[in-house]
Order: sequence, then C-alpha cells, then structure tokens
Amino acid sequence: MTLWEDFMFEIKSKDGLGRTGILKTEHGTVRTPALMPVIHPGKQTIDVKGPGAEIVITNAYIIYRNPELRERALSDGVHRLIDFDGPIMTDSGSFQLSEYGDIEVENPEIIRFQDEIGTDIGTSLDIPTPPGVSHRRAIEEVEVTLERARESIEYRERMMLNAVVQGSTHPDLRRYCASRLAELPVELHPIGAVVPLMESYRYRELVDAVLSSVSELPPSRPRHLMGAGHPMLFALAVSMGCDLFDSAAYILYAEDDRLLSTEGTYKLENLQEMPCSCSVCTDYTPSELMGMDREERRNLIAEHNLHVSFAEIRKVRQAIHDGNLMELVEERCRAHPRLLEGYRRMSEYLDLIEKFEPRSKRSAFFYTGPESLGRVEVHRHLKRVKEHLGERLALVAPSRRPYSSSLPARIGGFSSLRPQSGGPWRVVVVDLPFGIIPLELDQVYPLAQSDAPGIMDLDGEEFLRGLVRDLMDGDAIVDDALCSELGIELPYKYMGEVETTVDDLDRVRMVADYQFGMGAGELLFTDDVRIERSRNTGKIRHIYAGDELICTMRASDGLLVLGAEGAVRLHKGTDYPAWRVAVNEESEPFARKGKSVFAKFIIDCDNNIRANDEVLIVNADDELLATGKALLCAEEMMDLNHGQAVKTRKGGF
Ligand code: GUN
Repeated sequence: MTLWEDFMFEIKSKDGLGRTGILKTEHGTVRTPALMPVIHPGKQTIDVKGPGAEIVITNAYIIYRNPELRERALSDGVHRLIDFDGPIMTDSGSFQLSEYGDIEVENPEIIRFQDEIGTDIGTSLDIPTPPGVSHRRAIEEVEVTLERARESIEYRERMMLNAVVQGSTHPDLRRYCASRLAELPVELHPIGAVVPLMESYRYRELVDAVLSSVSELPPSRPRHLMGAGHPMLFALAVSMGCDLFDSAAYILYAEDDRLLSTEGTYKLENLQEMPCSCSVCTDYTPSELMGMDREERRNLIAEHNLHVSFAEIRKVRQAIHDGNLMELVEERCRAHPRLLEGYRRMSEYLDLIEKFEPRSKRSAFFYTGPESLGRVEVHRHLKRVKEHLGERLALVAPSRRPYSSSLPARIGGFSSLRPQSGGPWRVVVVDLPFGIIPLELDQVYPLAQSDAPGIMDLDGEEFLRGLVRDLMDGDAIVDDALCSELGIELPYKYMGEVETTVDDLDRVRMVADYQFGMGAGELLFTDDVRIERSRNTGKIRHIYAGDELICTMRASDGLLVLGAEGAVRLHKGTDYPAWRVAVNEESEPFARKGKSVFAKFIIDCDNNIRANDEVLIVNADDELLATGKALLCAEEMMDLNHGQAVKTRKGGF
C-alpha cells in the first residue's frame, strides 16, 4: 500500500507567505504550522503528546545502527518502538554526517529501512553543506543531494518523502536546488543546514537561505525548517512560508538548565522568578528546581520548554487566521537585534511575498515601528494608488491622528511650489502608515483598517516628506498643517479653499478602479446606477442598475462584492483571463449551482488573483458560471490539489 499517492496537504488560511493547513497521514491529521519534538529512540522519557505534539520526528540512522533498536523497529514498527501512535517523520543520518563527517550507510539502504520500519515521512541522505563554503563545493554537494533525492524516489515504496534543499549560504544555489527538487514527485521539502546559522544568530543569512528556497518550492508542499526549535523564531520562520519545525531544543536546553521563551533563553541559575504560567512555573520556584536531582530538574524544564513552544505555535496559527501574523513577527523580532536584522532583510523579497499576500484581512494593520513601512501592504498600496491619483492634488494633514474620515467640509490655508489658481482639487490625506489616502478610498482596506501612533518617529516623517516631494512634481498644494508637521517650506500661498465632500459615484468608481484596475469604475457603474446607503451607518451599501444588484460595498473592509449584474458587466467588459478562475467540465455543474470550487478542478486563472479577491468563475470557453471569493492566490490555485480555492457566492449564470 502506498501512502505517498494519497498525500494530502490543504491550505486553510493565509497571511503573507504564512499559512495554516492540514497534513493528512495514515496515522492522523496534523495542523500546520506544527512543531515536531525530536524523540530519541533509545532514551525518551518525556511525554510530548500531552503538551501538544501531533507529529514527532526521530532518527532512523540511530535506530539502524543499534542492533537491538533495529530488531525491534523491524519487527514491531517505529510507532511501537517510540510509543507514539500519531504521524512520525524520520531523519536519515545526514545530521550525523554533518556532525561527524562520515556515516556507515548508503542512501538506498536508509530509504528502504525507513520504509520497512513504517515511518510516515522518510528523508533522503542529503549533504548538509555548512554556511560560508565556496560556491564550487556547495554546488558539488547540491548535485549529490539532488541525485540522492532522485534515487530515493526509486527506492521508497510506501512512505512520503522529504527532499531537502541545500546550497549553503549561496542564494542562487538554494534556488537552483529547490527548483530541481520541485520537479520531482516528492511530498515535503525540508530546508537544511541552517542550524549553524541559527546557533550563531545569523538571521539575515537565514532569511536569504529560506526565502531563496521558498521562492522555488511548490506552495502545495509543506516546508520544514530543519533543526529550528527555538520559539523565538517560529513567527518569523512561518512568515517566510515554513510549515514544520523540529525541536531537540526542548531537551538539549533542559539538560543545560536553560528555559526557552519567545523573548530568548533564561539560565535557571539567573532566575529570581519563573518566567511563565505553565504548571512547572507555577508549581516550583527557581531555587526549588536548583535543589532537585539532575534528571528530575531536566524533565521539568523540558516540560516547560515544550509548553512555551507549543503555546507559540498555537499563537502563530491564530495570528494567521486573524491576519495579524506580521504584527506578531514585529513583536517577536524586537527580542534580539539580529532577529530584527533578519526581519528587515525580508523587505528585499517584497515581490515574492506580494504574490501570496491576501488583498484583505480580518485584522487592522498596526504600525509598530519604521519596519512596518517596509511591509507589502504599504508597497502594494502606493504602487496602485499612484496610478489613480491624476493631477491637481490638495495634500492635507489628517484632522485627527490616526486618520479618520472627519475633515471639515472646506479647508483653506495651502502653499505650493509654483503659483496656482482655480480648482477643482482632489483631496489626498497624507498620513502613516499608508502615506497617501485619496478621500474616495478612505473607507477601504487597508487604509481605514490601520493605526499608527499620533506622534511620529523620524523615519515616518521622512517617509511622508518623500511622498509629498514626489507628489509636488505635479500640480499640488499642501495645507499649512502638513507643511509645519513635516518641516516643508513652500514659496507660494494658495488663496482659495478646497472642498472635502466626495460624490458617491466618484467614490464607488474609484474603489472599483483601485480594486479591479483602471477602467473598472466606469465599466461597473454607468451614470444611471442607483446608490443606496445603510440606514444605520449612513455609508454606501448597495449599487443597483434598476433592480439588479451590481455590487455591495462590504462594511468590514469597504471593498466591493460582486452581485450578478456586476459579474456580468465585469465579464463582458474585460478580456480573458482578467479576474477569471477557469474550471474543468467536471466542476462546471457544481459551480453553476453555487458550490465552492476545489483547487484540483482549476485549469487556469488570472496571475494577478490574490486571496480574498472577488473572482469570476468561468469554463474553458470563458462562459460565466458563477462569482466568488478567492481563498488562495493564483500560484496556489494552479499548484494545489486539495481543498477549496474559491468560495462561490452566486451561481446560476
Ligand atoms: N537536521 C538538521 N539539519 C539537517 C540537514 O541539513 N539535513 C538533514 N537530513 N537533517 C538535518
């Protein structure tokens, strides 16, 4: 019986490159991101299931080398051997290879052995090339790693297979290795030889190694950051697309009287107070632990270490669900300057991250420091909004920070770079974190769903000054409050006043242009549309053509949800593949009935689709079948074989 042919990984929710998912195995289902405690096959005494382990990892090479363990594993299976009935991953001995320089087994043999002892996920005998070696050595070893991954496919019979990305600290080799492995029929991808980087806090290089690898790995396969077991790092690693971690840290640190936390590591002898509220920390004082015999103390510290590690994994999963993973990353990275450096390095990979970033989220965007300005949401907004601004801008400071749509109806007191006369002016609020907020968009995600401190830091000020300078290259006037706040002096006074009321039709058209691209506003909302407001909030809710619903403006994020008439207009007025998800014949009747679209039925889609976009569901002939909300981005839709890809809102076209 093969397990790997039934391999199943499903993405459940997304935030940037981070995702929650489920991984199904013969021995049970694992929620990802997941932490796999390392189990020593001969000496394990600590319960890992109680604190939260759904999957564990053990070392096949240690079992293979020990006659007694080997005998028992071959007769009873690895699950009985280590007394764990959930999914088990095994490592191959490569780590021993990196530690001791040599091992006594060949790749085919250790692959066959892992299969025979009934592991769920086995690993090929990759070469863990250390950081900083020459390009020549790294590429030679990558070729061996690739060859062994290919060979493992021939030798495995039933288990799922890990194919490890190597390439040392050479991003081009990480990309090369990952892209070759992506072509192979394997199920998971560890990212290897990063332990030395983590041990020496070289997080900037870690970010390069991980993101270069992830950029070429298929989104449908879980990625495992090998040897990462410190909870301080989980949020950052997940935000780079890692789904699995393995921890020997919980026991290794315990042996050394060190307690893990998301802020770093505590040495027991330095503690006056226990650091958390787990049962170990509430039942014992540091001095009571110090007085215990070694083994008892080690087991209790290991219990604490597992507790904080699993608590952090749960927190990360919740943050992805809520859409505030990056706020958590920003908090965690403040624990150590090297972590902050690693996080800052991520801004070099914005194009990659953007492809996976949902277009709207449940949580507001919080500015937690200058790094927030490097986030994808800010870059995406500025790129889009600049296409829509046009000429003759009146740049104003918000009347209140953070910006809320409460400007006076008319504003005076402007200056400019050159003499200005006559209107009309388009009012643009200049504020952190998104910089440029045209009034028409001031209820739209993420502009309205964001917050920044009212007292700006120097980077924030410089960011806004740079934007104002750019905008002044065209015709622009700047209100006196903004000039004084940003320390800008302009030679000419503009004597007129500027109106801040926004026409409803202008508003809905600009939202449509911002959301669906230039021209969508006029396409969807012809001059004869009827705009209805909510009786409770007074905000725009529905836009009709006669009695036909074109769009609803969603209260939670101010974005447009397509009604039947809106879908027909967008479909007629745009060319394939814009905003389309094309499904195969098998799926067509289900989509027409309004049933959700599963990823495996998708034959094509618009590359620009991101999770939470409104999409048109069509067949291979571009006939409109339904509309819905994308749950995945384009790349994921095309690559995944399991789970929902579009939540259909309305079929029946
Ligand atoms: N454990 C920690 N690093 C590695 C690695 O690079 N390869 C394998 N197989 N196991 C590891």
